[in-house]
Amino acid sequence: MAYYKVKEGYTDNMEYRRLGASGLRLSALSLGMWQNFGEDADRDVARKIVCTALDGGITSFDLANNYGPPAGAAEEMFGYLYRSLLRPLRDEIVVATKAGYPAWSGPYGDGGSKKYLVASCDRSLRAMGLDYVDIFYSHRYDSNTPLEETMSALDYIVRSGRALYVALSKYPADVLPRAVEILRSLGTPCIAHQVQYSMLSRQNEPLFPLHKELGVGCVTFSPLAQGQLTNRYADGIPADSRASRGESLKAGVVEDNLPKVKALAEVAAERGESLAQLALAWQLQGGAVDSVIIGASRPEQVIDNLGAVSAAPITPEQAAKINEILHK
Ligand SMILES: NC(=O)c1ccc[n+]([C@@H]2O[C@H](COP(=O)([O-])OP(=O)(O)OC[C@H]3O[C@@H](n4cnc5c(N)ncnc54)[C@H](OP(=O)(O)O)[C@@H]3O)[C@@H](O)[C@H]2O)c1
Repeated sequence: MAYYKVKEGYTDNMEYRRLGASGLRLSALSLGMWQNFGEDADRDVARKIVCTALDGGITSFDLANNYGPPAGAAEEMFGYLYRSLLRPLRDEIVVATKAGYPAWSGPYGDGGSKKYLVASCDRSLRAMGLDYVDIFYSHRYDSNTPLEETMSALDYIVRSGRALYVALSKYPADVLPRAVEILRSLGTPCIAHQVQYSMLSRQNEPLFPLHKELGVGCVTFSPLAQGQLTNRYADGIPADSRASRGESLKAGVVEDNLPKVKALAEVAAERGESLAQLALAWQLQGGAVDSVIIGASRPEQVIDNLGAVSAAPITPEQAAKINEILHK
């Protein structure tokens, strides 16, 4: 297979936003590989999803050591795509990975210890065929490991050349400032905090002012509430959807949210766009988020989602209508 030749002018319709106080800019949309890139994924579909994202200016790819299934399979898939297609584009993309959740058996394959994080980073680099990752995340706060140890492991990972930058994922509000301060004192600043955020999941909004105060970028995940904020479930649960597998997204949750989703879809239709585009534009235009990590099971979804970057501004009337729907 020949290396991929990305479309000329591929960055023209994308925004690139600086992460916190760092010099690194991420595409406003990132592509995540939590699902759809596991052992059973079709390599050809995976290739098309990644190439469609790149052609649309998505230069940021979000992985973790436990993405698959099984854990590690998504990094293997990325490695296959990188070696066969993307290698010449290494300097045009940002690859992030994480460690923090169970990844292998025994006492050293989970948590926030230096032993785990450094070994995991080495495994991730081998699986992906990379010399370094652009961003290495502590995937979650581990209260059983001293915060100083986890932060010094991140610092070591950068100093040893395994990563260029470090970031944190899902750190609680009462731990984040101290973690950021330790990293700053070590000379390896935290460039981003990754949090769940969507119209249906707003519990992390109180963190947004803290991100600004700390000078840390804000990267959000599951912006479509795993597919609920699309036109996908309007007529029930399709056989090939995430909810049909019932693992991370339960059918009952989809059914409960459906009245809100249908009302939001009407607002989107009035704006002449898909619900996915409205849900993404809503957070891209909110002023708090630097990059929104989308997932996709097919290239058409990426194309649809890319439309959000150039969506018309959400008017105050539309914002009020959205808030009214969400507070019902
Ligand atoms: N830090 C963390 O702990 C953490 C946790 C979770 C996720 N993440 C990151 O965030 C990324 C995104 O999370 P997510 O996959 O939950 O995001 P999401 O964008 O909320 O959901 C993606 C799913 O929505 C559906 N979809 C996407 N675009 C669509 C469209 N235009 N029309 C119809 N359906 C569409 C697809 O579902 P179907 O598959 O059903 O087609 C797709 O798999 C992950 O891959 C991962 O990188 C991080």
